Amino acid sequence: MAYLDWDERMGIGHEVIDAQHRQLVVLINDLAEAAERGAERRELGQLIRAFCDYSSEHFSTEQGLMDSRDYPEYFQQVDGHEECSTQALDFYREYINGRDVSLRDFLVFVATWFQEHTMRVDQTLRKYLKKKAASAPATP
Ligand SMILES: [Fe+2]
Ligand SMILES: [Fe+2]
Repeated sequence: MAYLDWDERMGIGHEVIDAQHRQLVVLINDLAEAAERGAERRELGQLIRAFCDYSSEHFSTEQGLMDSRDYPEYFQQVDGHEECSTQALDFYREYINGRDVSLRDFLVFVATWFQEHTMRVDQTLRKYLKKKAASAPATP
């Protein structure tokens, strides 16, 4: 059983963004699976790093999209993304420095953050993009 199940409500109806959201679910599950089977600290560190790198790539893609569509709630999104990035990077740093930090707590944080963010904050973007597409002049 996956640690975090994909839910269609985690998508926003945009091909690139939705593929990235799906990939973030995969990365969270990879980390949970490795933790469950008792993988070595080195492998777990690489998986935490993979989540940090890919989420930051996703945030910049999403922010680029919002910027190009004049999304009014851009800064609320940036705040949310920064909260996740800061926590994930802080955890990664502590983890690779051998500190006694809880991977279980980290997984709960990222899975909860991801669900709440995609199913609530990103959904406002979905509605906005849909409205914008409907009011866009037809291309000749
Ligand atoms: Fe997103
Ligand atoms: Fe977002």
